[in-house]
Amino acid sequence: MAIHFENIKEFIGSRVSWDSRDDIFTPEAAAAIRAKVEERTVVVFPQIDLSDEEQLRITDLMGGKVRLTARNNVQSNDQDVYQVTLDEKINPQPEYVLGTFFWHMDGITVDMPPPFATLLSCRIAPDKGGETEFASTYAAYEGLPEEEKQAIEGLKAVHSVRASLSPIADAIPEKHRDKVLGIGLVKEHPIVWTHESGRKSMVIGTTADHIVGMEIPAGRAMLIRLQEWAAQPAFSLRHKWSKGDFVIWDNTGAMHRAIPYDKSTGRMMHRTSIAGSEKVAA
Ligand SMILES: [Fe+2]
Repeated sequence: MAIHFENIKEFIGSRVSWDSRDDIFTPEAAAAIRAKVEERTVVVFPQIDLSDEEQLRITDLMGGKVRLTARNNVQSNDQDVYQVTLDEKINPQPEYVLGTFFWHMDGITVDMPPPFATLLSCRIAPDKGGETEFASTYAAYEGLPEEEKQAIEGLKAVHSVRASLSPIADAIPEKHRDKVLGIGLVKEHPIVWTHESGRKSMVIGTTADHIVGMEIPAGRAMLIRLQEWAAQPAFSLRHKWSKGDFVIWDNTGAMHRAIPYDKSTGRMMHRTSIAGSEKVAA
């Protein structure tokens, strides 16, 4: 198999190269890529220029696609490909995309195990802004001082879309604000996720509203401190998109966010998701 991986930073990121493009689309390659996603959190395929059909093929080979967001595709003819764009002609709910300017995990407020991975293909790269940042919550947990690990052990946080959109709530037109804020479920998750592998990550981000059994201000302060800890440069990676770039990341061990960008940039990403097999467990 002629695909190669090269680390990007010490604790996060791997860049893929290949001899022949066809080498990517085999079950062996998919298994190697999946293992690399688990090991390095973020895997980057520079300018590979996938079609939707090819992206779905990789998604399925790596573990099976799952549909996270209701269909609103106009340009894509596949319901399993979600178009991430601020263009209201394509995405009638741009507020949901504006919420991605803040650290979050995908699929935390739905009634299924969080997706294992998110896959994004860049169709239109913005000139200004629109980079995606990733923060490894495996590396961040590992790097916490021992007493802080103990302090968060056994704690649970309450997650909602309402919490994740609270920074932009007053920018949502009033006529559909309640509907947008009410998307998804209110879910309780342990802050420390002990995976079947035995490794531990953290389930944090702006969906986390408060900590069960703690005073709201103290709980929120703790959640924000954990976010800031995970986002420090040692544990995080910023990807500047070129057209055709394809990135896969471990959604069960990372938060992500987009650097703010303007609708006029035309930024367009095609997203698929790989189903998760593990519920969040303490
Ligand atoms: Fe996201």
